[in-house]
Amino acid sequence: MKFYKKITEKSKSNSLVVLVSEDTDSINFSNDSVNLLFSESLSNEDLSSLGKITVLHTPDSLYKNFNFLRIICIGVGSLEEIDSSKIRRAAGSFGRYFLDSKLSNLSFFVDLIKSKDTDLLTESFFEGFFLGNYIFEKYKSKKSEKKDVFFEVVSSEISNIQDIVNKSFEKSEAEKFARDLVNEPANVLTPTELSNIANNKTDKSISCKILSKEECAKLGMNAFLGVSQGSIEEPKLIHLSYKPLKNENSYWYIGKAITFDSGGLSLKPSGSMFSMKGDMGGSAAVIAAINAIANLKLKVNIDVLCLATENMPSGSAQRPSDVVRAMNGTYIEVENTDAEGRLTLADAITYAKGFDPKFIIDIATLTGAASIGLGKGNISAFSNNKDFMDKVKLAGDITGDFVWQLPLDSTSKKQNNSTVADIKNTGGRLAGTITAAHFINHFVEEVPWVHLDIAANSMTSSNDGWHNRGATGIPTRLLIELAYIFEK
Ligand code: BES
Ligand code: MN
Ligand code: ZN
Repeated sequence: MKFYKKITEKSKSNSLVVLVSEDTDSINFSNDSVNLLFSESLSNEDLSSLGKITVLHTPDSLYKNFNFLRIICIGVGSLEEIDSSKIRRAAGSFGRYFLDSKLSNLSFFVDLIKSKDTDLLTESFFEGFFLGNYIFEKYKSKKSEKKDVFFEVVSSEISNIQDIVNKSFEKSEAEKFARDLVNEPANVLTPTELSNIANNKTDKSISCKILSKEECAKLGMNAFLGVSQGSIEEPKLIHLSYKPLKNENSYWYIGKAITFDSGGLSLKPSGSMFSMKGDMGGSAAVIAAINAIANLKLKVNIDVLCLATENMPSGSAQRPSDVVRAMNGTYIEVENTDAEGRLTLADAITYAKGFDPKFIIDIATLTGAASIGLGKGNISAFSNNKDFMDKVKLAGDITGDFVWQLPLDSTSKKQNNSTVADIKNTGGRLAGTITAAHFINHFVEEVPWVHLDIAANSMTSSNDGWHNRGATGIPTRLLIELAYIFEK
């Protein structure tokens, strides 16, 4: 990535990208004919509608002494109404456009996003572009990958432009890393493979501890191991630590890591099972986030924990009505083997509590009910601590991974009462997202905690904004932004 101060500086690129708002009346291209072309286009066409892409051709034969063969205008709507999500969304469409086009190199002229939130808007714009550009084609023999791609940024007004673009690049790369993990099929991304990636594909400053089934058994993690016992794949406990600060406790990021959720003996119908390679979306986000936090050298201690397993039916599988003793001693009645995520999270939380965490956030594709309740536009959240909940909400507002808090009310809590054990792993049809959160809360007790149910948001079936069909990588950028907030 190169940075220039003026459009006229000698560029290797042949395409200039400019942002056009309703308030744009001219741009100085330092070339009279080009200035004329732009101002006439501005008055004759709609260049400014949010997300609209218009190409003005400036061939050498007609526009002598102009560096570029074309000017690509991206509409950002009104500067009054623009916000980070709107601009990220517009840039996301352009990222996809770039992918489908023959373009290979671009110069971005970004001074026009000058406003009260210049830094955030600029960062969001580049995030949108980098993320809209994402494609998973590992298993396509014929790849669409472009050769000789390069980007430049032109800005004379934004003095820290280099830092801004670098930050948005790191955050986007992290989210793409998470998307790759989620898009990977479950026959490849087994618990063992996930532990290998966590160990070998993350920053050198991160230490990694992997526990085997036997080691987890010694710790008494029977809730976790009960889920894994139907699968021929070995379960793995994955524990990553990034500790730049001596003698300080950590913020713990816990991710649900079911590499495939068939439902177990409470088998899912095939239509619902198809997307269940994505049931490790929480673990993908936390692993990608700690890696970026270490890459960015943030001064904050983070631990990541993923209890990875498949949930499969077989002669050795856990039965509905089994009772397991969790690591903290709680007896759990397994009413439905498809409510497996909360069983693994129960032991994950007990393990984390042994390290006296400052705060625990768990991220899980936990309940189909989360989609019914809030749809795709919000992550369902729960917390026992207002200060931490507010920080998570703020991080989500910044990254466009919006978070909406639901209650931990005492009426729905009773739905987890068991007649044979201390608690059961399902709470009936009503308030399914809330009863799942109550179950986790039972193991958290007093530790400051936020639970994010991302079942609705982890994958998408259509291209929209900065998300492409398949994994979204949510909430990787939120978790990175949260570390910035903790650092302050
Ligand atoms: N992994 C699923 C939840 C899910 C559903 C994630 C759709 C992504 C998309 C989870 O393990 C599950 O099966 N939950 C059950 C809980 C029920 C048995 C209490 C559900 O939501 O139906
Ligand atoms: Mn399930
Ligand atoms: Zn699941």
